[in-house]
Amino acid sequence: MRIAIISDIHSNLNALENTLKEIDKLNIDTLICLGDLVGYGAQPNEVVELIRKSCDYAVIGNHDAAVVGKLDYTYHYKAAKDAIDWTRNNLTTDNLEWLISLPYKLKIKNISFTHGSPISPEDFLYVYNSSHASLLSQYYDELSKFSFIGHSHLIKGYTFSKILADEFKLPRKGFLENNKYLFSVGSVGQPRDGSPLSAFFLFDTELESVDVHRVYYDINPTADKIINAGLSPNFAKRLFLGI
Ligand SMILES: [Fe+2]
Repeated sequence: MRIAIISDIHSNLNALENTLKEIDKLNIDTLICLGDLVGYGAQPNEVVELIRKSCDYAVIGNHDAAVVGKLDYTYHYKAAKDAIDWTRNNLTTDNLEWLISLPYKLKIKNISFTHGSPISPEDFLYVYNSSHASLLSQYYDELSKFSFIGHSHLIKGYTFSKILADEFKLPRKGFLENNKYLFSVGSVGQPRDGSPLSAFFLFDTELESVDVHRVYYDINPTADKIINAGLSPNFAKRLFLGI
């Protein structure tokens, strides 16, 4: 099975459209979205509708959960809170209801899909680095053989034994029988690894390979829409920098 995984679109339609065009060329069997469809950007309805049309499955992200009232967001900084309020006011009822219906976790055979950490996914815990990943080693028995997550907007791979976690470089080919693996798939609509290119992952379960794809899109119209909508100009600026 060839599974494409996308995450953290954040209402960035141009980035999503170009990413889906690339995925179309890859002869995949399943497309999965790991949440944060909305927040920051100016085209939440267009993004939700395109995800509904194109993805086989999606899980809920923390921004989606905040928008639909499933997550307290009072601790966010002001611009982020304003973007959540703006998004709620601009989403159609139908799209809001669809977001509410998304699960926190999806499991297909021995592969789990969540927005944040696969352990207690409703808490949206971050996995930014190998120290965070090491904390998951204590849950080794609960972890699926493969976990795919978003949330940090970073591209990472970790392997777990019962006592520790190690980060490894991507792409990856081949897996050890007694180890478990976690992949952080980056972001389509707001990359934060210093590159403005959209990211998605391709997992080929037969070839035992995990590949990272990066996709160019024209940031200018996306940035203009953010500014014209009255959202924080910083949300537009950071797209050019990949931060
Ligand atoms: Fe996000």
